[in-house]
Amino acid sequence: MKGFIFDLDGVIVDTARYHYLAWKKTGEELGFELSIEQNEKLKGVSRVDSLNKILGWAGVEISEEKFNRLMDEKNEDYLNYVEQMTPADILPGVKDFILELKAKGLPIALGSASKNAPRILEKIGMLEYFDAIADGNSVKKAKPDPEVFLVAAKSIVTAPEACVVFEDAEAGVEAANNAGMISIGIGSPDNLSHADHVFSDFTLITTDFILNLQPKH
Ligand code: G6P
Ligand code: MG
Repeated sequence: MKGFIFDLDGVIVDTARYHYLAWKKTGEELGFELSIEQNEKLKGVSRVDSLNKILGWAGVEISEEKFNRLMDEKNEDYLNYVEQMTPADILPGVKDFILELKAKGLPIALGSASKNAPRILEKIGMLEYFDAIADGNSVKKAKPDPEVFLVAAKSIVTAPEACVVFEDAEAGVEAANNAGMISIGIGSPDNLSHADHVFSDFTLITTDFILNLQPKH
């Protein structure tokens, strides 16, 4: 029997624009303008690693104290956007897709780098769909390390090779591959060609197709 692991940001909800607005403000405090292209490179990247990347682009060094303050301020800004989220923020097709899997009695887990994952799922009314949640609070190592997906697989008592992962980020697809799982990229083949299959969104994926996928090993 298969298990299904969903990334959150960019797969279930489009939060990238909220992360962008919040990190842009952080950049301004550092005298740096964060571009949309640079924001693309922050997709799937943990909060700490994101700030480190921004500091690198800005060519700025700061104290540990300021680093922590900027991270807290960014998250406060981001959470203000999250508080305004509703079920209308759910990306096309993903809710019906998950409901179909659930109707077949199949286990569903979240595998996200975000520490805000439970709050976001609550705001969009999807928290109760998940049998397990592995997120930025449950793991130490960030994607492309496979830890978050291995923790998710364990929580739904499914062997890694029987898991299917849905991911929009390059590092996320890499993490799924590193875990020995079947990787489904959600987005463009331009940057997700290392995924086993790529779809632009869930309206193009049938549960039959996914259920018939063979393990890689
Ligand atoms: C996801 C997003 C990233 C974000 C990370 C941590 O992977 O794609 O942009 O930095 O989660 O999210 P958090 O909500 O904990 O700051
Ligand atoms: Mg993502």
